[in-house]
Amino acid sequence: MPLLSSPFGRSRDRADHGRRVYNRWSDHQRIYGALVRLAFLERDRAARERALSVLDLASGERVLDIGCGAGVNFDALGAQVGSGGLVVGLDYSEGMVRAARERTPGTPAPTAVCRGDATTLPFADGSFDAAYATLSLSAMATAETAVEEVSRVLRPGGRLAVVDARPFQAGLWRALNPLVTPISMLATNWYPEVDILGTIRSTFDESRVWTTNAGTLYVAVGWKEDEVRRDRLR
Ligand SMILES: C[S@@+](CC[C@H](N)C(=O)[O-])C[C@H]1O[C@@H](n2cnc3c(N)ncnc32)[C@H](O)[C@@H]1O
Repeated sequence: MPLLSSPFGRSRDRADHGRRVYNRWSDHQRIYGALVRLAFLERDRAARERALSVLDLASGERVLDIGCGAGVNFDALGAQVGSGGLVVGLDYSEGMVRAARERTPGTPAPTAVCRGDATTLPFADGSFDAAYATLSLSAMATAETAVEEVSRVLRPGGRLAVVDARPFQAGLWRALNPLVTPISMLATNWYPEVDILGTIRSTFDESRVWTTNAGTLYVAVGWKEDEVRRDRLR
């Protein structure tokens, strides 16, 4: 049983509510950044680095940043794929898209930002080598569909790395959940009941998960099998 269910139905209403929440946050990015740092005691930084390292981007690759927000990942992703690669940020909030576009000049790789819904990605099958989603899937009412969509737009051998948050899992920390969970749901349109890890496991051919911060913060990676390579290894 989920600890708390969102007051909204699992529908377009919830996506629009999220859009409004993040349009507001896009006008207060400093406060938002400070709240995130406080909530994770800055451990999200190490989690992002770990996810990037497992994503193992190569020069010239095309990477999709799902729920890119104000584009906080663009420099790190661009540094890995370089000037011959491509970073595409996608976000549902117009305010965040505007903020992310302001960040694109001067990024280390060609970077494009589009407004769109991660549950119906506007890209052809196999368009990307890799995808990265930081603190964004848990802000989607139907993140399971988003994970399946990401898998669709990844090429064989492509991979998805996720940094995200869930309620406290460890020992006495769990006593904080009834307080922290509703506040986070209100402030960040958080859907703790969505089974992101289970969906990564069932959608990708191989996956791994690392957790930190009393189990709240995790890094998950899913790999799509490369059939050509698999057949060669047989
Ligand atoms: C908590 S912010 C994370 C932003 C950024 N990735 C970061 O690490 O700071 C969640 C972002 O997901 C976006 N988002 C929520 N639902 C979405 C959807 N269905 N499709 C695309 N983006 C979505 C929000 O607009 C918001 O910018």
